Amino acid sequence: MTFCTDRLLLRPWREEDAEDLFVYASDPAVGPPAGWPPHESIAHSREIIRTVLSAPETYAVCLKADGRPIGSIGLHRNDLAEGGDEYELGYWIGKPFWGQGLTPEAARELLCHAFADPGMARIWCGHYDGNVKSRRVMEKLGFTFHHTTEGLEVSQLGEIRTGHVLLLTKERFKKVELFRQQKKLLDTFLQNGAISQAQYDKSHRDLRALMEMHGVE
Ligand SMILES: CC(C)(COP(=O)(O)OP(=O)(O)OC[C@H]1O[C@@H](n2cnc3c(N)ncnc32)[C@H](O)[C@@H]1OP(=O)(O)O)[C@@H](O)C(=O)NCCC(=O)NCCS
Repeated sequence: MTFCTDRLLLRPWREEDAEDLFVYASDPAVGPPAGWPPHESIAHSREIIRTVLSAPETYAVCLKADGRPIGSIGLHRNDLAEGGDEYELGYWIGKPFWGQGLTPEAARELLCHAFADPGMARIWCGHYDGNVKSRRVMEKLGFTFHHTTEGLEVSQLGEIRTGHVLLLTKERFKKVELFRQQKKLLDTFLQNGAISQAQYDKSHRDLRALMEMHGVE
């Protein structure tokens, strides 16, 4: 399966991606915050594609412009859930691409796909203590804090860490997306000259008040 967003293409990983994967996954700023060690060679990256990134619902995040992978995103059967048949969202993106909202863009697409399943009511996501960047991604998507676990063994790095777990329900995701779409529409109306700056400011204020009332960022 593949997915398209404004700027991205999500598609299954292929062994030929090993060189691109190595460029970003060998950076010590990427794997360790997520609990895995930097890749050591292109052969190591190829092995990870074969053994880890070939899992179901795991996608290479590619720029539409050139189709090359810059990160990874996936839905995994859950370690974090309180029980039941639920997914956990995981992601990373190469450092040169941080701060452009690309991970939330990819994640929204995947969450839409997951929640299209009538049986999927909740999705989980976790980050280690101090990973503020990942926490921000979760907040943008509408996840809310659920619990903290201390003394987690990060086996691949031989460390003990504290982890925070957040939860997103289908109902909340729909609400957050609705507000986001309305905001996008208002921006388009202003850009097209369909509404004046004063009309935009008033509608924007009203929308923000509504969002605050619903606890949506
Ligand atoms: C966490 C991560 C996926 C965020 O991806 P992204 O596409 O940059 O997401 P966003 O553009 O929404 O940025 C999220 C936050 O990162 C921070 N950030 C952005 N650019 C940054 C930069 N160049 N340097 C440091 N922090 C930065 C900001 O706090 C930003 O929040 P803001 O938009 O409210 O300012 C990415 O930083 C990453 O891959 N980190 C390493 C792996 C990892 O931690 N994975 C998650 C494991 S739980």
